[in-house]
Amino acid sequence: MTIRNIRQLVPARAVTEGAGVTVHRGIGTPALKHLDPFLMLDHFGSDDPEEYIAGFPDHPHRGFITFTYMLDGHMEHRDSMGNRGDLRAGGAQWMKAASGVIHSEMPRQSEGRMRGFQLWINLPAAEKMSDPAYQEFSAGAIPDAAGEGARVRVLAGEYGGRKGVIRDPDTEVLYLDVALDAGVDFRLPVPASHNAFVYVFEGDAETAGQALPRHSLAVLGEGDEVDLVAGPEGARFILVAGKPIGEPVVQYGPFVMNTRQEIEQAFADYRAGTLVKAKAVITGM
Ligand code: CO
Repeated sequence: MTIRNIRQLVPARAVTEGAGVTVHRGIGTPALKHLDPFLMLDHFGSDDPEEYIAGFPDHPHRGFITFTYMLDGHMEHRDSMGNRGDLRAGGAQWMKAASGVIHSEMPRQSEGRMRGFQLWINLPAAEKMSDPAYQEFSAGAIPDAAGEGARVRVLAGEYGGRKGVIRDPDTEVLYLDVALDAGVDFRLPVPASHNAFVYVFEGDAETAGQALPRHSLAVLGEGDEVDLVAGPEGARFILVAGKPIGEPVVQYGPFVMNTRQEIEQAFADYRAGTLVKAKAVITGM
């Protein structure tokens, strides 16, 4: 096994999104435009309602998947097809926008902490204009794998014999939320073919003697095993990996396609009110 060390360390950058919400972006900035198949990673987290109350009113997506993981708080999701869902602490939503979804994500709380992640996962050309689909799971449905001094929530992929509830067939995404006690060593084989990153959001960690500070995204280099050691206060991080798609990426805001012409078509469809082509299939609990 070869340990994957840190290829690039990207401090998350504050960006204003939605109706004025500050998010910390790790993927999707000039420092790291994409990490195939990942297009964007936003970490949102605040104890101040002023910073999140405006939410994310109606907006479109086409050509990819949004994966939302709530750590704290409560958001309500609605789409233009009439689907409604609750995103509560510990729950996750995989939304394959594909041919088109118009949706909103609005806070259902006026005080307390709101914290979580939104990851954008690209779709291969053959899937970009397919029908939308949702996989939505509350906290209780997401498997926990406990080790010595470690608690691992398996959102997607597999760890410690536990299979995540969310299936991402095109890019075989692994998505773990890992909490380690001080000094605990966490090891996991991750296929060499997959791009992988770690984002520490509590405490700090290191890998092969390289520091993994909080609120920085660490792109992992070549190898087939991840080995992370928690710092003196312990560490909590997401570890995400996925199989690269290897196709051209043309992105304009909420539309991610393979060609410029397809982006122009998305804008034309949105203006004409025909962006949403099909009803979504929903699975979850
Ligand atoms: Co959205």
